[in-house]
Amino acid sequence: MNTNRQWLLKSRPESLVGPENFEFVEGDMPQIGDGEILVRSLYFSMDPTQRGWLHEEDNYVEPVQIGAPMRAGGIGQVVDSKLDGFAAGDLVNGTLTWGDYSVMSAEGFVPPRKIDQSMPLTWHMSAFGITTLTAYFGMLRVADLKEGDVVLISGAAGATGSAAAQIAKVKGASKIIGIAGGAEKCAWLTSDGGCDAAIDYKSDDIAAKVAELAPDGIDVFYDNTGGPALDAALINMAEGARIAICGGISSGYNSWTVETGPANYMYLILKGARMQGFLVLHYMDEFPAAIGEIASWVQSGQLKPHETVIEGLEKAPETLQGLFTGLNRGKLILKVADPS
Ligand SMILES: NC(=O)c1ccc[n+]([C@@H]2O[C@H](COP(=O)([O-])OP(=O)(O)OC[C@H]3O[C@@H](n4cnc5c(N)ncnc54)[C@H](OP(=O)(O)O)[C@@H]3O)[C@@H](O)[C@H]2O)c1
Repeated sequence: MNTNRQWLLKSRPESLVGPENFEFVEGDMPQIGDGEILVRSLYFSMDPTQRGWLHEEDNYVEPVQIGAPMRAGGIGQVVDSKLDGFAAGDLVNGTLTWGDYSVMSAEGFVPPRKIDQSMPLTWHMSAFGITTLTAYFGMLRVADLKEGDVVLISGAAGATGSAAAQIAKVKGASKIIGIAGGAEKCAWLTSDGGCDAAIDYKSDDIAAKVAELAPDGIDVFYDNTGGPALDAALINMAEGARIAICGGISSGYNSWTVETGPANYMYLILKGARMQGFLVLHYMDEFPAAIGEIASWVQSGQLKPHETVIEGLEKAPETLQGLFTGLNRGKLILKVADPS
């Protein structure tokens, strides 16, 4: 193939991101210079943070510019290399763009890294990906999970949430309550998702249900959504509870401010509790050790790589939108091609 299909950013979304914000174009294969590799795309990781990259202002990484190809984490196969240590045929992960081909360099946001091929490739994005690492540091460091804790998790059926539930179980939580949207996802939370009980935020009174399921209060709240779940958690904390603010996807990530803040935050005072935000990138130096521990859980079957895999480069924008409409259970991945 001498041409490259790719998705360019056409407009900055004002609310729900979708196909209308991107343009699918066909052009020439990209050329590489010194220190770069040409990579054929195999899998893209779909992450809520990509919505943040579409804002005009920087957050923790520079925004995607209008007219530029959309950026994504993912896995590709090297087609041509002018970068020491990489050769045609190598499988790498790092930062790609939404196209059949991407140019990667050692100076990229996440530089290319050769990957272990002894396990399914998608596991590099699910069980061993950034969302599991986020759950690991969020649950064990930020929330400081202790044996016997009663744990509440919002966004529990997603990639980070389902990893957080399984990690809490391995580390001895006494009860894990997951919050997700819809009866089918809630049933999955208790059958496969590592939770002991589930709350459907779309039909249950979340606060009343937390009170019923955790009459002595929750010790840890791992929050992926913010909004009503956070307020419900705040009024149901046990003494000394810890809240890890991982994400706030209920805001739609349309901006970094939300119209209404958490109404019940003064319960932090009454319960001597704390609420702390974090970025997984803060723990980068500790990734290798964490991956070692995660690998042992995967091997023993205590941490299952949950995935939702959609196929086709042409579906990239609608798949990204799916994170905000509840398309996925576990890690949302777009498959573009098989390795050769
Ligand atoms: N702090 C960090 O370093 C860090 C790193 C990675 C991810 N994150 C955050 O972690 C969270 C989870 O990310 P992920 O990659 O694992 O995505 P994910 O949970 O796999 O997918 C997003 C899920 O969010 C739920 N959702 C969407 N809109 C919602 C709404 N209005 N209210 C409640 N739930 C809603 C949907 O599940 P339902 O069907 O249940 O609604 C959807 O499946 C995100 O907030 C993300 O920004 C933070």
